[in-house]
Amino acid sequence: MVFQGQHILSIDQLDRESVERIIQVADTMTPYATRQKCCNVLDGAILANLFFEPSTRTRISFGTAFNLLGGHVRETVGMTTSSLSKGESLYDTAKVTANYADVVAMRHPDVGSVAEFARGSNVPVINGGDGPNEHPTQALLDLYTIYNELEALGKDKATIKIAMIGDLKNGRTVHSLTRLLCLFPNIEFTFISPQALAMPDKILSSCDDAGLSFNISEDFEFGLKNQDVIYLTRVQEERFTTQEEANLYRGKYCLNQSLYKEHCAKNTIIMHPLPRDARPEANELSNDMNDNPNLAIFRQTHYGVKVRMALFALVLGVEDKLTQFEQPMNWYSPRHS
Ligand code: NCD
Repeated sequence: MVFQGQHILSIDQLDRESVERIIQVADTMTPYATRQKCCNVLDGAILANLFFEPSTRTRISFGTAFNLLGGHVRETVGMTTSSLSKGESLYDTAKVTANYADVVAMRHPDVGSVAEFARGSNVPVINGGDGPNEHPTQALLDLYTIYNELEALGKDKATIKIAMIGDLKNGRTVHSLTRLLCLFPNIEFTFISPQALAMPDKILSSCDDAGLSFNISEDFEFGLKNQDVIYLTRVQEERFTTQEEANLYRGKYCLNQSLYKEHCAKNTIIMHPLPRDARPEANELSNDMNDNPNLAIFRQTHYGVKVRMALFALVLGVEDKLTQFEQPMNWYSPRHS
């Protein structure tokens, strides 16, 4: 895939080679992401960060990634403060935004909305989540995390056993991650959810098409056993018609240190796209796991910045110019001590 000038909307656009290229470029971002050096290769470029749905890390991480390459960020947050609430079409918003910015990162509650926006945009658009559909950059950072965590454990990457647990129907991160892993051989999936929140058939078909096997169960303890990676998700309460309906499922699966010790294989990596729902009635990933060295959730956010830097560099065609635009870093950073 030629990245320059392309929208990044769905995992469907990627093949194995392009994913490997993104990972390779993400690796070259280490000195900038860890504040060893500055890079201003995107000096003068503008990112429009358009977030029409709640977000903390995805929005900040897109902005940070762009800033770390020397670019500038303009943002709009929420639907009510944007002209979409005055009836403007996504097409018009895209036409206008493309006059201001060089690249767009966007999140929106409707399935297909980011692709619709992209049809009106002549600058690259990156999907930061379109309703329950897809979240391709999260999947890429999750894959990058899995690789780095397995490598740090000295584990073989040839076969990866992964259990995805929680709201697999509405969780866009698990949809994109499953499709992404389908590009690789020897992945063994286990999907654990209440029946009503099961992984959609079209995602299961991707596994079938890729010739990958999967287990489906409601049994939490079965899902915890004998995995390399456990990927927990929050019940996506904002996708339910009523809070009462969402509450039927919140709190059904709660991983804590004692269950981890009892059921998980040694060094099972624990991931979650975040936010964890830390309210007592949900609590799918207990705070008592915070000191577990295999809890990768905060490292995931670090890898996310590098992956988003890589995507910006690739779609703006500067991935081979980074070192030409390096500078020493002048300020204190606790990352160096
Ligand atoms: C996820 C999302 O928004 O889909 N968060 C994220 O982007 N890291 C998961 C979630 O909200 O549960």
